[in-house]
Amino acid sequence: MKTPEFLQIHRVEDAVLAHEAAEGLRATRAHVSPKFFYDALGSRLFDAITELPEYYPTRTEAAILAQNGAAIADAVLCATGPAPALIDLGAGSCAKAARLFGPLVPRRYVAVDISVDYLRQALATLQREHPAMSLVGVGLDFSTRLALPAALTDGPSLVFYPGSSIGNFARTEALRLLREARRTAAGGALLIGVDFVKPAAVLEAAYDDALGVTAAFNLNLLSHLNRLLGADFRVRDWRHVAFFDADASRIEMHLEARRRLTVNWAGGERQFDAGERIHTENSAKWQPAAFEALLREAGYTGVRRWTDTQGWFGVFLATG
Ligand code: AVJ
Repeated sequence: MKTPEFLQIHRVEDAVLAHEAAEGLRATRAHVSPKFFYDALGSRLFDAITELPEYYPTRTEAAILAQNGAAIADAVLCATGPAPALIDLGAGSCAKAARLFGPLVPRRYVAVDISVDYLRQALATLQREHPAMSLVGVGLDFSTRLALPAALTDGPSLVFYPGSSIGNFARTEALRLLREARRTAAGGALLIGVDFVKPAAVLEAAYDDALGVTAAFNLNLLSHLNRLLGADFRVRDWRHVAFFDADASRIEMHLEARRRLTVNWAGGERQFDAGERIHTENSAKWQPAAFEALLREAGYTGVRRWTDTQGWFGVFLATG
């Protein structure tokens, strides 16, 4: 049996993250990156979100991949040749990518996540199920730049970016990541999940569910900041706000102060008026044709897409 290999490319120090968060809090329009959602509890709350009746993306994407699995695998192998490397962006539990192992028979599986520590358990379990496959865990914040060691991009690969996480990026940054994915795939392909524009009521329910799980996910960011910054946010002083901005074609999430208050942290403070907000996330919703155009602008020449019967979510295969 092989053993998984692990590399941490560039670990961002907590002090650097704390500085980044504090800068955002001090800004005239306070904002904090959505990456601060994902402490241990935040990751569990996100998993709970994916099970909510209102949160359609995860199950819709899974259904598209299940229903079109054979056609997608054929198209992937046609682009990459047999036994491609499979490069999984934001791998987490590696569960989505593992479903591709059967149809693709990858020669190597490269799981990329912000911290290599998240990947240890998942890859150890996968190795027992696939004793002969080479498994590599890479700790890398690809939201800044996707650059893997040359040894891992030695031939055509399938880059897999499911979940519509591309929605967290504004157009310019999304374009940059798609270009970097194309270079990383080295003549192979990109398989990416994208959430589409749909009625605002459906979108808003998905980001403001009846049980309040998304509210808890958003508010938990304040507990994370308390630990990271030594801040004194009182979670009860804030409320979850989510809405669809049709002009920007995105869901925005904010935390809104319920009253006038001051937040203190090690080395800083900020006053918030009642109703003042901290912007915590953008989740872009694409028109299918606009996303295809973005892929072509990124340099891909072949684009195929699969969708559900309602046309709510798309899985794109981009080649060339
Ligand atoms: C992980 C970025 C795809 O935008 O739908 C879910 C995060 N935020 N509910 C999304 C999220 C609130 C999610 N992504």
